[in-house]
Amino acid sequence: MASKINIIGCGQAAGSLARLWVETGAVNVGCVLNRSESSTRAAVGRVGAGKPVTAFSDMEAADFWLIGTNDDQIKPVAKLLRERRVNREGALVFHLAGRFGLDVLASLDDGKTLLAALHPVRSLTHAALSLEDFAATACVAEGDPAALAALQPLVTSIGGTWLPVASIDRGLYHASVSIISNITKAVAWKAQKWQKKAGLPEETAATVTHQLLASTMDDLFRSGARQSITGPVVRGDTRTIEAHIQAINTSHPEDLEVYRVLARTVLELAQERGDLDEQALRRFEFLLGR
Ligand SMILES: NC(=O)c1ccc[n+]([C@@H]2O[C@H](COP(=O)([O-])OP(=O)(O)OC[C@H]3O[C@@H](n4cnc5c(N)ncnc54)[C@H](OP(=O)(O)O)[C@@H]3O)[C@@H](O)[C@H]2O)c1
Repeated sequence: MASKINIIGCGQAAGSLARLWVETGAVNVGCVLNRSESSTRAAVGRVGAGKPVTAFSDMEAADFWLIGTNDDQIKPVAKLLRERRVNREGALVFHLAGRFGLDVLASLDDGKTLLAALHPVRSLTHAALSLEDFAATACVAEGDPAALAALQPLVTSIGGTWLPVASIDRGLYHASVSIISNITKAVAWKAQKWQKKAGLPEETAATVTHQLLASTMDDLFRSGARQSITGPVVRGDTRTIEAHIQAINTSHPEDLEVYRVLARTVLELAQERGDLDEQALRRFEFLLGR
Protein backbone atom coordinates (compact mmCIF):
# COMPACT_ATOMS: atom_id res chain seq x y z
CA MET A 1 0.00 0.00 0.00
CA ALA A 2 1.30 3.49 -0.88
CA SER A 3 2.33 5.62 2.07
CA LYS A 4 0.37 8.69 3.17
CA ILE A 5 1.35 12.35 3.54
CA ASN A 6 -0.47 14.96 5.60
CA ILE A 7 0.10 18.59 4.63
CA ILE A 8 -0.08 21.60 6.93
CA GLY A 9 0.25 24.64 4.71
CA CYS A 10 -0.64 23.48 1.22
CA GLY A 11 0.19 26.62 -0.77
CA GLN A 12 2.20 27.11 -3.95
CA ALA A 13 5.18 24.91 -3.04
CA ALA A 14 3.55 22.04 -1.10
CA GLY A 15 0.56 22.09 -3.47
CA SER A 16 2.82 21.82 -6.54
CA LEU A 17 4.75 18.88 -5.08
CA ALA A 18 1.57 17.17 -3.88
CA ARG A 19 0.11 17.30 -7.39
CA LEU A 20 3.24 15.62 -8.75
CA TRP A 21 3.09 12.93 -6.03
CA VAL A 22 -0.56 12.30 -6.89
CA GLU A 23 0.31 12.10 -10.60
CA THR A 24 3.02 9.48 -10.02
CA GLY A 25 1.09 7.63 -7.29
CA ALA A 26 4.21 7.80 -5.10
CA VAL A 27 2.27 8.74 -2.00
CA ASN A 28 -1.38 9.27 -1.10
CA VAL A 29 -2.35 12.73 0.13
CA GLY A 30 -4.06 12.42 3.52
CA CYS A 31 -5.28 15.37 5.59
CA VAL A 32 -4.72 18.95 4.44
CA LEU A 33 -4.87 21.96 6.75
CA ASN A 34 -4.37 25.59 5.79
CA ARG A 35 -5.05 28.69 7.87
CA SER A 36 -8.49 29.27 6.43
CA GLU A 37 -11.11 26.69 5.56
CA SER A 38 -11.68 28.15 2.08
CA SER A 39 -7.95 28.01 1.32
CA THR A 40 -7.81 24.36 2.50
CA ARG A 41 -10.70 23.42 0.20
CA ALA A 42 -9.14 25.28 -2.73
CA ALA A 43 -5.79 23.51 -2.10
CA VAL A 44 -7.42 20.06 -2.07
CA GLY A 45 -9.21 20.99 -5.30
CA ARG A 46 -5.96 22.01 -6.96
CA VAL A 47 -4.08 18.92 -5.79
CA GLY A 48 -6.97 16.69 -6.80
CA ALA A 49 -6.68 14.59 -3.63
CA GLY A 50 -6.67 14.87 0.16
CA LYS A 51 -9.13 15.35 2.99
CA PRO A 52 -9.68 18.98 4.03
CA VAL A 53 -9.65 19.42 7.83
CA THR A 54 -10.04 22.49 10.03
CA ALA A 55 -8.04 21.52 13.14
CA PHE A 56 -4.98 19.54 14.21
CA SER A 57 -7.25 17.24 16.20
CA ASP A 58 -8.93 16.12 12.95
CA MET A 59 -5.66 14.98 11.40
CA GLU A 60 -5.23 11.23 11.07
CA ALA A 61 -1.94 9.31 11.35
CA ALA A 62 0.35 9.44 8.31
CA ASP A 63 3.83 8.34 7.24
CA PHE A 64 4.87 11.86 6.25
CA TRP A 65 3.94 15.31 7.60
CA LEU A 66 4.84 18.20 5.34
CA ILE A 67 4.89 21.63 6.98
CA GLY A 68 4.53 23.71 3.81
CA THR A 69 3.66 27.01 5.48
CA ASN A 70 5.54 30.23 4.83
CA ASP A 71 8.93 30.31 6.59
CA ASP A 72 7.85 32.21 9.70
CA GLN A 73 5.05 29.76 10.50
CA ILE A 74 7.15 26.56 10.42
CA LYS A 75 8.41 26.84 14.00
CA PRO A 76 5.00 27.67 15.56
CA VAL A 77 3.32 24.88 13.57
CA ALA A 78 5.98 22.37 14.70
CA LYS A 79 5.37 23.50 18.29
CA LEU A 80 1.61 23.03 17.86
CA LEU A 81 2.13 19.54 16.47
CA ARG A 82 3.88 18.68 19.72
CA GLU A 83 1.52 20.53 22.08
CA ARG A 84 -1.65 19.11 20.48
CA ARG A 85 -0.19 15.59 20.91
CA VAL A 86 -0.77 14.76 17.27
CA ASN A 87 0.04 11.10 16.56
CA ARG A 88 3.31 11.28 14.61
CA GLU A 89 4.92 8.11 16.00
CA GLY A 90 7.53 6.83 13.51
CA ALA A 91 6.55 9.41 10.88
CA LEU A 92 8.82 11.84 9.01
CA VAL A 93 8.12 15.56 9.50
CA PHE A 94 9.75 17.91 6.99
CA HIS A 95 9.57 21.48 5.69
CA LEU A 96 10.51 23.16 2.40
CA ALA A 97 12.33 26.33 3.49
CA GLY A 98 15.84 26.87 2.15
CA ARG A 99 16.36 29.32 4.99
CA PHE A 100 16.16 26.68 7.71
CA GLY A 101 17.70 23.36 8.57
CA LEU A 102 16.47 21.12 11.36
CA ASP A 103 16.69 23.78 14.09
CA VAL A 104 13.24 25.07 13.25
CA LEU A 105 11.76 21.61 13.98
CA ALA A 106 13.60 21.28 17.32
CA SER A 107 10.37 21.13 19.35
CA LEU A 108 9.62 17.77 17.65
CA ASP A 109 13.02 16.29 18.43
CA ASP A 110 11.77 13.84 21.06
CA GLY A 111 12.78 10.56 19.46
CA LYS A 112 9.25 9.82 18.22
CA THR A 113 9.64 11.42 14.82
CA LEU A 114 12.17 11.62 11.99
CA LEU A 115 12.96 15.19 10.99
CA ALA A 116 14.17 16.62 7.69
CA ALA A 117 14.48 19.83 5.68
CA LEU A 118 13.89 19.63 1.93
CA HIS A 119 14.60 22.60 -0.33
CA PRO A 120 13.47 22.21 -3.94
CA VAL A 121 15.63 24.84 -5.64
CA ARG A 122 13.22 26.29 -8.19
CA SER A 123 10.20 28.52 -8.11
CA LEU A 124 7.07 26.50 -7.48
CA THR A 125 3.77 28.07 -8.38
CA HIS A 126 0.21 26.87 -8.69
CA ALA A 127 0.46 27.28 -12.46
CA ALA A 128 0.48 23.70 -13.78
CA LEU A 129 3.98 22.49 -12.92
CA SER A 130 4.53 19.27 -14.85
CA LEU A 131 6.79 16.34 -14.06
CA GLU A 132 8.79 17.45 -17.10
CA ASP A 133 9.26 20.95 -15.60
CA PHE A 134 10.31 19.47 -12.26
CA ALA A 135 12.68 16.88 -13.77
CA ALA A 136 16.24 17.26 -12.40
CA THR A 137 15.29 20.05 -9.99
CA ALA A 138 17.99 20.28 -7.33
CA CYS A 139 16.47 19.08 -4.04
CA VAL A 140 18.77 19.94 -1.13
CA ALA A 141 17.95 17.71 1.83
CA GLU A 142 19.12 17.66 5.42
CA GLY A 143 18.38 15.15 8.16
CA ASP A 144 19.84 12.16 9.94
CA PRO A 145 20.42 9.01 7.85
CA ALA A 146 17.06 7.42 8.74
CA ALA A 147 15.15 10.61 7.86
CA LEU A 148 17.02 10.98 4.56
CA ALA A 149 16.37 7.33 3.69
CA ALA A 150 12.63 7.90 4.23
CA LEU A 151 12.58 11.16 2.26
CA GLN A 152 14.69 10.23 -0.76
CA PRO A 153 12.03 8.08 -2.53
CA LEU A 154 9.57 11.01 -2.40
CA VAL A 155 12.09 13.21 -4.22
CA THR A 156 13.28 10.67 -6.79
CA SER A 157 9.71 9.54 -7.56
CA ILE A 158 9.02 12.94 -9.13
CA GLY A 159 12.41 13.24 -10.84
CA GLY A 160 14.16 15.59 -8.38
CA THR A 161 17.94 15.48 -8.09
CA TRP A 162 18.73 14.23 -4.58
CA LEU A 163 21.38 16.41 -2.89
CA PRO A 164 21.91 15.63 0.81
CA VAL A 165 23.85 18.18 2.92
CA ALA A 166 24.81 18.39 6.59
CA SER A 167 24.86 21.41 8.91
CA ILE A 168 25.26 24.05 6.21
CA ASP A 169 25.21 27.79 6.94
CA ARG A 170 21.58 28.42 5.99
CA GLY A 171 21.86 32.23 5.86
CA LEU A 172 24.71 32.08 3.37
CA TYR A 173 23.20 29.21 1.37
CA HIS A 174 19.84 30.94 1.02
CA ALA A 175 21.48 34.28 0.15
CA SER A 176 23.46 32.50 -2.60
CA VAL A 177 20.47 30.82 -4.25
CA SER A 178 18.44 34.02 -3.95
CA ILE A 179 21.03 36.09 -5.80
CA ILE A 180 21.37 33.53 -8.60
CA SER A 181 17.65 33.51 -9.29
CA ASN A 182 16.11 36.80 -8.17
CA ILE A 183 19.03 39.11 -8.82
CA THR A 184 19.59 37.68 -12.32
CA LYS A 185 15.95 38.52 -13.11
CA ALA A 186 16.22 41.99 -11.55
CA VAL A 187 19.45 42.76 -13.42
CA ALA A 188 17.83 41.68 -16.72
CA TRP A 189 14.87 43.96 -15.94
CA LYS A 190 17.19 46.92 -15.30
CA ALA A 191 19.31 46.20 -18.39
CA GLN A 192 16.19 46.24 -20.57
CA LYS A 193 15.28 49.67 -19.16
CA TRP A 194 18.70 50.96 -20.19
CA GLN A 195 18.27 49.43 -23.67
CA LYS A 196 14.89 51.14 -24.13
CA LYS A 197 16.35 54.44 -22.96
CA ALA A 198 19.21 53.90 -25.43
CA GLY A 199 16.58 53.80 -28.18
CA LEU A 200 16.08 50.09 -28.79
CA PRO A 201 12.47 49.15 -29.61
CA GLU A 202 10.87 47.13 -26.77
CA GLU A 203 10.81 43.87 -28.73
CA THR A 204 14.43 44.29 -29.80
CA ALA A 205 15.44 44.90 -26.17
CA ALA A 206 13.60 41.72 -25.12
CA THR A 207 15.26 39.66 -27.89
CA VAL A 208 18.74 40.99 -27.08
CA THR A 209 18.28 40.31 -23.36
CA HIS A 210 16.80 36.82 -23.74
CA GLN A 211 19.33 35.70 -26.34
CA LEU A 212 22.22 37.00 -24.24
CA LEU A 213 20.91 35.32 -21.10
CA ALA A 214 20.51 32.02 -22.97
CA SER A 215 24.04 32.08 -24.43
CA THR A 216 25.44 33.18 -21.04
CA MET A 217 23.80 30.14 -19.40
CA ASP A 218 25.23 27.87 -22.12
CA ASP A 219 28.73 29.23 -21.50
CA LEU A 220 28.30 28.97 -17.75
CA PHE A 221 27.15 25.34 -17.91
CA ARG A 222 29.81 24.39 -20.45
CA SER A 223 32.86 25.90 -18.80
CA GLY A 224 31.91 27.78 -15.59
CA ALA A 225 32.07 31.51 -14.75
CA ARG A 226 35.81 31.67 -14.11
CA GLN A 227 36.63 30.13 -17.48
CA SER A 228 33.97 31.75 -19.68
CA ILE A 229 33.79 35.36 -18.49
CA THR A 230 34.65 37.98 -21.13
CA GLY A 231 34.05 41.74 -21.53
CA PRO A 232 35.83 45.05 -21.05
CA VAL A 233 36.90 44.51 -17.44
CA VAL A 234 38.71 41.22 -18.05
CA ARG A 235 40.19 42.64 -21.27
CA GLY A 236 41.48 45.68 -19.39
CA ASP A 237 39.52 48.14 -21.60
CA THR A 238 39.39 50.96 -19.07
CA ARG A 239 38.07 53.54 -21.58
CA THR A 240 35.05 51.38 -22.36
CA ILE A 241 34.19 51.23 -18.66
CA GLU A 242 34.64 55.02 -18.46
CA ALA A 243 32.14 55.37 -21.34
CA HIS A 244 29.65 53.08 -19.54
CA ILE A 245 29.89 55.17 -16.40
CA GLN A 246 29.36 58.40 -18.32
CA ALA A 247 26.32 57.04 -20.17
CA ILE A 248 24.68 55.67 -17.02
CA ASN A 249 25.46 58.85 -15.12
CA THR A 250 23.66 60.84 -17.82
CA SER A 251 20.58 58.66 -18.30
CA HIS A 252 20.16 56.73 -15.00
CA PRO A 253 22.36 58.36 -12.33
CA GLU A 254 20.43 56.44 -9.64
CA ASP A 255 21.78 53.19 -11.16
CA LEU A 256 25.45 54.16 -11.09
CA GLU A 257 26.13 52.39 -7.82
CA VAL A 258 24.43 49.21 -9.07
CA TYR A 259 26.70 49.22 -12.13
CA ARG A 260 29.78 49.86 -10.00
CA VAL A 261 28.99 47.08 -7.52
CA LEU A 262 28.34 44.53 -10.28
CA ALA A 263 31.40 45.59 -12.30
CA ARG A 264 33.53 45.36 -9.13
CA THR A 265 32.45 41.72 -8.85
CA VAL A 266 33.72 41.13 -12.39
CA LEU A 267 36.93 42.93 -11.42
CA GLU A 268 37.34 40.60 -8.44
CA LEU A 269 37.04 37.60 -10.79
CA ALA A 270 39.50 39.14 -13.28
CA GLN A 271 41.95 39.74 -10.43
CA GLU A 272 41.59 36.17 -9.23
CA ARG A 273 42.35 34.94 -12.76
CA GLY A 274 45.34 37.28 -12.95
CA ASP A 275 44.05 38.98 -16.13
CA LEU A 276 44.98 42.58 -15.38
CA ASP A 277 48.24 44.47 -15.19
CA GLU A 278 48.84 46.83 -12.28
CA GLN A 279 47.98 49.97 -14.30
CA ALA A 280 44.59 48.66 -15.51
CA LEU A 281 43.79 47.41 -12.02
CA ARG A 282 44.47 50.82 -10.43
CA ARG A 283 42.39 52.59 -13.12
CA PHE A 284 39.46 50.23 -12.58
CA GLU A 285 39.69 50.68 -8.82
CA PHE A 286 39.53 54.45 -9.37
CA LEU A 287 36.51 54.16 -11.71
CA LEU A 288 34.58 51.51 -9.81
CA GLY A 289 35.69 52.11 -6.24
CA ARG A 290 37.39 49.47 -4.15
N1 LIG B 1 6.99 28.87 -3.79
C1 LIG B 1 8.24 28.59 -4.08
O1 LIG B 1 8.71 28.90 -5.16
C2 LIG B 1 9.10 27.84 -3.10
C3 LIG B 1 10.21 27.13 -3.58
C4 LIG B 1 10.99 26.41 -2.67
C5 LIG B 1 10.67 26.44 -1.32
N2 LIG B 1 9.59 27.17 -0.90
C6 LIG B 1 9.27 27.14 0.54
O2 LIG B 1 7.98 26.56 0.68
C7 LIG B 1 7.32 27.12 1.81
C8 LIG B 1 5.95 27.64 1.39
O3 LIG B 1 6.09 28.66 0.45
P1 LIG B 1 4.89 28.97 -0.57
O4 LIG B 1 5.46 29.85 -1.62
O5 LIG B 1 4.22 27.71 -0.94
O6 LIG B 1 3.92 29.83 0.37
P2 LIG B 1 2.36 30.09 0.17
O7 LIG B 1 1.95 29.88 -1.25
O8 LIG B 1 2.09 31.40 0.82
O9 LIG B 1 1.66 28.95 1.03
C9 LIG B 1 1.71 28.92 2.42
C10 LIG B 1 0.52 28.10 2.88
O10 LIG B 1 0.68 27.90 4.27
C11 LIG B 1 -0.58 28.09 4.89
N3 LIG B 1 -0.32 28.47 6.28
C12 LIG B 1 0.37 29.54 6.75
N4 LIG B 1 0.39 29.52 8.10
C13 LIG B 1 -0.29 28.42 8.49
C14 LIG B 1 -0.62 27.86 9.75
N5 LIG B 1 -0.25 28.44 10.88
N6 LIG B 1 -1.34 26.73 9.77
C15 LIG B 1 -1.73 26.12 8.61
N7 LIG B 1 -1.46 26.60 7.39
C16 LIG B 1 -0.74 27.75 7.32
C17 LIG B 1 -1.28 29.16 4.09
O11 LIG B 1 -2.66 29.04 4.30
P3 LIG B 1 -3.71 30.21 3.92
O12 LIG B 1 -3.80 30.17 2.43
O13 LIG B 1 -4.96 29.81 4.60
O14 LIG B 1 -3.12 31.49 4.43
C18 LIG B 1 -0.84 28.78 2.67
O15 LIG B 1 -1.71 27.84 2.11
C19 LIG B 1 8.25 28.20 2.36
O16 LIG B 1 8.99 27.67 3.42
C20 LIG B 1 9.15 28.52 1.19
O17 LIG B 1 10.41 29.00 1.60
C21 LIG B 1 8.81 27.86 -1.75
